[in-house]
Amino acid sequence: MLNVTGLAKRHANAGRPLFSGLELTVAAGETVALVGESGVGKSTLLNCIAGLETADAGSIRIGPRAVDIVGLDETARAALRARQIGFVFQAFHILPTLTVAQNIAVPLLLRGVPLKAQPARIDALLDAVGLRGFAGRWPTTLSGGELQRVAIARALVHRPSLILADEPTGNLDPRTADEVLTRLLDNVRQQQAGALIVTHSQQVARRCHRILTLTPDGLR
Ligand SMILES: Nc1ncnc2c1ncn2[C@@H]1O[C@H](COP(=O)(O)OP(=O)(O)OP(=O)(O)O)[C@@H](O)[C@H]1O
Ligand SMILES: [Mg+2]
Repeated sequence: MLNVTGLAKRHANAGRPLFSGLELTVAAGETVALVGESGVGKSTLLNCIAGLETADAGSIRIGPRAVDIVGLDETARAALRARQIGFVFQAFHILPTLTVAQNIAVPLLLRGVPLKAQPARIDALLDAVGLRGFAGRWPTTLSGGELQRVAIARALVHRPSLILADEPTGNLDPRTADEVLTRLLDNVRQQQAGALIVTHSQQVARRCHRILTLTPDGLR
């Protein structure tokens, strides 16, 4: 579901590249944890894979048809993202002017599916992340951990082939984190998606199939 080869990225004005010659594969149904020190480039790597930042070199093949997101223009990248990728942002990015249900439905709306067509799907996901009854709530009335769970539901709603999650349980207590992670991993397995999960938690990392560590010298 993901095949990265020769990936390099240096931020403008940065002295040395964050990474170069990076190789990484995530198979269908596989969950891979990505760990590493703060500032080493984990979020940047996820953003490059999702086409939200542009890599300097390399290829990033996504989904069952292995489309290289690096070679696409902005519009095509957005379309590939909408179809194939579910992204849980480190800072949630829940839209404050939409209800919880509308936020979760955004990936469906991007694909032209009206919100009203999917109430059962939204309810099932709210259940899965422990937010039954939250559909009509406004984001400003939610706690940080509740917002994080809305972000996870939104990343799964359109059954993406690749899930990229940046600290998806960083704001949750250990028990809720464990439950939400279980649902996330269940979804990945059922949908035969691939998942790359950035985490600082050993508990989260251990539940993935593989653990990769990003260091200034590369992935290991
Ligand atoms: N747009 C940017 N321009 C310049 N430097 C940037 C930019 N974005 C990130 N950086 C720098 O690149 C490095 C890697 O940042 P990144 O957010 O990828 O780290 P991270 O591994 O996700 O860290 P954390 O675990 O704290 O989230 C940091 O030193 C950061 O300051
Ligand atoms: Mg980060």
